Formats: sequence, structure tokens, C-alpha cells
Amino acid sequence: MSAKRTSIHGQWSSRWAFILAATGSAVGLGNIWRFPYMAGESGGGAFLLLYVVCVLIMGIPIMMAEILIGRRGRQSPVNTMRIIAEEEGYTRQWKWLGIMGVVAGFLIVSYYSVIAGWVLAYVFRAATGSFEGGDPEAIAQMFSDLISDPERLLAWHTIFIMMTVAVVSRGVKSGLEMAVRFLMPALFFLLLVMVGYAMSTERFAEGIMFMLRPDFTAMKENFREVFLNASGHAFFSLSLGMGAIMIYGSYLSDRTSITSAAVLIASADTLIAILASFAIFPLVFTYGLEPAQGPGLIFVTLPIAFGQMPGGVFFGTLFFLLLTFAAWTSAISLIEPAVTWLVENGGISRIKATAYTGLVAWILGIATILSFNHWAFPFTFAGVSKENGIFDIIDILTANIMLPLGGLAIAIFSGWLMSRASTMDELKVKENIYVSWRFVIKFLAPVGVTIIFLNQIGIL
Ligand code: PHE
Repeated sequence: MSAKRTSIHGQWSSRWAFILAATGSAVGLGNIWRFPYMAGESGGGAFLLLYVVCVLIMGIPIMMAEILIGRRGRQSPVNTMRIIAEEEGYTRQWKWLGIMGVVAGFLIVSYYSVIAGWVLAYVFRAATGSFEGGDPEAIAQMFSDLISDPERLLAWHTIFIMMTVAVVSRGVKSGLEMAVRFLMPALFFLLLVMVGYAMSTERFAEGIMFMLRPDFTAMKENFREVFLNASGHAFFSLSLGMGAIMIYGSYLSDRTSITSAAVLIASADTLIAILASFAIFPLVFTYGLEPAQGPGLIFVTLPIAFGQMPGGVFFGTLFFLLLTFAAWTSAISLIEPAVTWLVENGGISRIKATAYTGLVAWILGIATILSFNHWAFPFTFAGVSKENGIFDIIDILTANIMLPLGGLAIAIFSGWLMSRASTMDELKVKENIYVSWRFVIKFLAPVGVTIIFLNQIGIL
């Protein structure tokens, strides 16, 4: 057993601070922007069903593993993987798992920030009453005008990266903890308001059924695509496989129960995604929009609702503002692993480390900006046709390949390489819970992810 370490980067002030911060990382554009559009492209209910199965057999157990490894190592994911591997008697090359996570974080944040920029733009549109009247065509046009203008996208992307850098440079406790405490409950409340509005629309039942009834016949045809999207999205949405949850675990007190925290975080994350789809699909059907329209989905459906509901300027502004905050608390966790690594190994201050990280993310983001206009090109990958070139490539590469691969490595590491004594020392659960976790992390989760892979590269 190792002596307990402390993190040089700080510690959460309470168990709730960790749960809220990790939920803040998990709940983001993934739940409200990506989940509904992926579900829309992948047949609704079938997607939801596979998604929930993936959260249960891979998401929660791998989240527990990431938290426990993080808390044991108490350093950046790169150094944590290195020292825990050495401690358990294996090669220090496991640090490469941490490095892959840092790279995935850069890639994700580069496009995440561009989409968060769209959300920021929509805060202003909502506030200035641009959706008034809610004419679906005008609103769709407004969206395509935005994404076809690289200069405007660059301006919003720059602002969002600066916001993220500002928070991360201030460290673990200041700001972030306080922010998530209020923002997460507020976002939840507003989603309920949106679902309430959706209930008043004509085709509410159709929208709900679209999500609740898995269409097995349609699923047969494109099962592979639905399965790959749902499993990749489970990793993306729970922030797994790249060290975000690991670094948050490294700031966690030794007394907190990892199991109940992981269950709580995963449940909140899934609930919010489901509520978002309940708010969106009834509008899609009521206004005759296309469920499979891709990344623009919420930017076209929700403004129609805001343009028509009483108090729409108020609710619309608040909604996009809260979505900005949700994206913000996720973006922070995307760069935190890179920043802590730079501080530990580069011998530079947190402020400098954050600035460098932000700069790299900003430059990479330009490729995504151009993917929606000058560089847009259609292509087919694993049988799925896409049209936004580099954006889609980064999205598939990270969510469908790098994060599941990272998750697989974490499952193998904690299930097969770490000793029973050290994992039990962190989890501190009853024997039967431990045995179930160990079984899932050793067998079910790795087999699940391997199947995803073989599918992804076209072998299965
Ligand atoms: N989970 C975040 C979301 O759903 C995105 C994210 C992925 C954050 C990976 C951190 C790590 O929006």
C-alpha cells in the first residue's frame, strides 16, 4: 500500500464540490447539442437504448476506475499513470495513456470551443429578440448565415477560449466550484421549462415516442452506425477516456465514496440528455423539421420555440447563457490534464501553462471553423456519410476512437494490472460490490470496447 499523496494543484473543498465539478465536466454540449442530433441521425429510441446499455456496462465502471487511479496518483494523468504503473510493478510507459488523453483533450476542445461560440452568438440573438415570430425558415437561414461566416466564428471561438483560459489559470477552487453550484441546478430547471413548452406543442407524443420506442426494424439496417455512435457518445458525454475525470479525482478527498459519486454523476448526465431530447423532438415534428439534420439541430429547433412562447426573449437568453456555462465547465476539464502536466514537467506557472494550452487549442480550432464553410467537404467513414470535413474527422477520431481506446486501456489497467489491495483501498466497498465491479471492469467493459473497435475499423 502506498503512502497517501497530496496534489500540488489543490483539492476540492467537499464531496459535493467534486460531484458538481465532475457533473459540470460531464454535462455540456454533449448532452444538449450532441446527444439530440446523434439520436436524430441514429433513429431516436434505438440510440437511447444502446446509449444507456453502454453507460451501465462501460461508463460507470470505467468512471470509477478513472477516479480511483486519479486519487491514488494525485498528479496529472501522464504522471499518475507513470507512477501507479511503476508502483504496481509495470512499465512506466503507461504514461503514454496519459499523453494520448492530453492529445484527445486538445482535439476535442478545439472544436468544442467553436460550437460553444455558436451558443454565445445565440445568447445575443435571443436577448435582442431575433427569434420573435419564430418563422422556421428565417431561423434556419440565420443559422446557416452564422456558420458560413468564418470571421464571426473566429471571434466567438476566441472569446470562448479566453473564458476557459481565464478560469483554468486561477486554479482548482477559485471560481469553478462556486459557479457549478448554481449553474447546474439552474440549467436543470430551465430544461424542465423547455420540456413543459414542448408538452404544449401538437406533436409532443410523437417526439417522445421517437426517443422511447426503439425501432428495431430500422435498427437492423444501420445497427453498426447506431451502435458506434451510441458507444462513442457514452464516453464523450461522461468525459471518459482522456483523463478529465482522472484529474478531477486527483483533487478528491480520501473519505469520499467513489462508487456513489460515479453513479450520481452518470445518472445526472443521462437524465439531462434525455430531457434535452424531450424538449427538442416534439418541436422537430411539430414544425416539420428534419430530425437527422446534424449539428445544427438545437440552433434551429429551440429558437423557433423561443420565438413563439410567451417570455421567449427571457427564457431563450437564459437558456443559451446556461448552455454557455455548461460548455464552459466542460471545456475547463478538457484542458486541465494538459495544464497540470505542463506545470509538473515544464516547471512553469499555472498561468503560463494555461496560456500555452489555450493558444494551441485556439489554433487547432481554426480547422473546425473552416470545416463549415471554405473547407467543407463530404466524405464517408465506416459507412457513414459526413459533410463537414475536418470537424467530422476530429469528432469521429476522438469520440469513436480515442476515448473508447483510452477507456479500454483504463479498464485493463485497473482490472488486470492493479492489485486487489490497491483498488479496494480506494473503493472501500462491500465485498459483493467490489466483486461485481472487478468482474465488469475485467471482462464486460473490455469486451464491449473491443467489439466497438473491431466494428469501427470494419473487421466485425
Ligand atoms: N462531457 C462533455 C460534454 O458532454 C465533453 C467532454 C468530453 C468533456 C471529454 C471532457 C472530456 O459536453
